[in-house]
Amino acid sequence: MVKIKSTFFCQNCGAQSSKWVGKCTTCNEWNTYVEEVIQKSDPVNKLITGDSIKRSNPNLIADIQTTNSHRYKFSDNEFNRVLGGGLMPGSVALIGGEPGIGKSTLLLNIALKSNLKTLYVSGEESDEQIKTRAERIGGSMNQCYLLQETNIQQIIHHANNLQPYVIILDSVQTLHTDLIESSPGSVSQIKECTSQIVRFAKTNNIPILLIGHITKDGSIAGPKILEHMVDTVLQFEGDRHHVYRIIRCIKNRFGSTNELGIYEMTAAGLIEVENPSKVLINNHNELLSGVSVAATLEGLRPLLIEIQALTSTAAYGTPQRSSTGFDLRRLNMLLAVLEKRCGFKIGKKDVFLNIAGGIKVDDPAIDLAVVCSILSSNFDLNIDSKICFSGEIGLSGEIRPVSRIDQRINEAEKMGFKTMYISKYTKGVDEKNHNISLKKVGKIQEVLVHLFK
Ligand code: TYD
Ligand code: MG
Repeated sequence: MVKIKSTFFCQNCGAQSSKWVGKCTTCNEWNTYVEEVIQKSDPVNKLITGDSIKRSNPNLIADIQTTNSHRYKFSDNEFNRVLGGGLMPGSVALIGGEPGIGKSTLLLNIALKSNLKTLYVSGEESDEQIKTRAERIGGSMNQCYLLQETNIQQIIHHANNLQPYVIILDSVQTLHTDLIESSPGSVSQIKECTSQIVRFAKTNNIPILLIGHITKDGSIAGPKILEHMVDTVLQFEGDRHHVYRIIRCIKNRFGSTNELGIYEMTAAGLIEVENPSKVLINNHNELLSGVSVAATLEGLRPLLIEIQALTSTAAYGTPQRSSTGFDLRRLNMLLAVLEKRCGFKIGKKDVFLNIAGGIKVDDPAIDLAVVCSILSSNFDLNIDSKICFSGEIGLSGEIRPVSRIDQRINEAEKMGFKTMYISKYTKGVDEKNHNISLKKVGKIQEVLVHLFK
């Protein structure tokens, strides 16, 4: 006997209700409830529950064998790095990102360049489209199977026959299962398909890479529970008008979430960027005002980035403040500190700030470089290109120490910088261990005396 049940789901947060409501009581969004028919055939459920009761057994933790050494390593080192050293067998990783950022390109690249038998399932593009992309990317075409399918039962059937090392599903929003009536992309379909995927991955020990679309506000489309169900959540981000892309780990059951990978989008697909500091700072020899270099940390990775500022007299009564890659509120705060604590009259000036390369940074350690760029543009005096900065600025204008300063200093040293400004309150840094001159400063004024004498 088939029991038909229908429930209303919030398409924003996945909350359920037996009746339609205008405003979701969980996430407060309006007009997000959609009726979804859930058709449950009892025999399947009985089979699943009966089956799992028979199979499960309590095990002593000491007796359990770990498979850490068997992580699948791809030829792509940046991807291995964000996964915490490779993909665990039987794990499910979800990769989210804006449309056109390069999710399909990234995973196809991995499928072609790692010599592992891969099943690439696409519900979005035709075989020919994928083949054309594969030709642009290059790599071996002998190990990658393409499948045009959106039905999860069919996908599992083919995966069982093919027994690949890795399965790529593009994308979770196109999948649907026979067990549920509602349309692909709806909350209940995504939930059910993901749970079948996770079950398949765990029982067959085959890792699955899942592509997910994101919503306007940047979270992965579908219910929040999707992120709870999978083992790893990665976010692929970057500015579509720039060539650099960053892959970040948001959740990882098998490693740290501090790692990140950097790629460059070229005509031949995504290329790993092994030494990001080298590409993010301009190595021109011209002396320009308004440019300084900050030593920042993205996750655990030290990076040197170029900060550009431009100040000019405001044409209108209200000066404009604009920033790309840096929090605008923080820029306003730094400008207020410069005005109030250091006496610079920049309240009537337009200030534009830009982090080169289109990357976004929220590390407060770049504050000092931001301030120095602004003042350099304001005085129209350049900063020596062999100087870099790392320090947070407090509300009273003091320069505060930052985390993992040793790593930042080592990176600056590696990139050939001669002088680095850090906070004088930094503890445990011995200049003798470094081949770079460390200038310890406590206030913005002290830096200015050194820089623009
Ligand atoms: P795609 O992987 O289709 O994005 P997503 O799956 O995240 O929607 O990437 C599309 C973009 O990548 C497109 O704007 C063109 C660009 N691209 C290149 O610049 N070079 C290449 O070799 C490829 C394959 C794509
Ligand atoms: Mg795509």
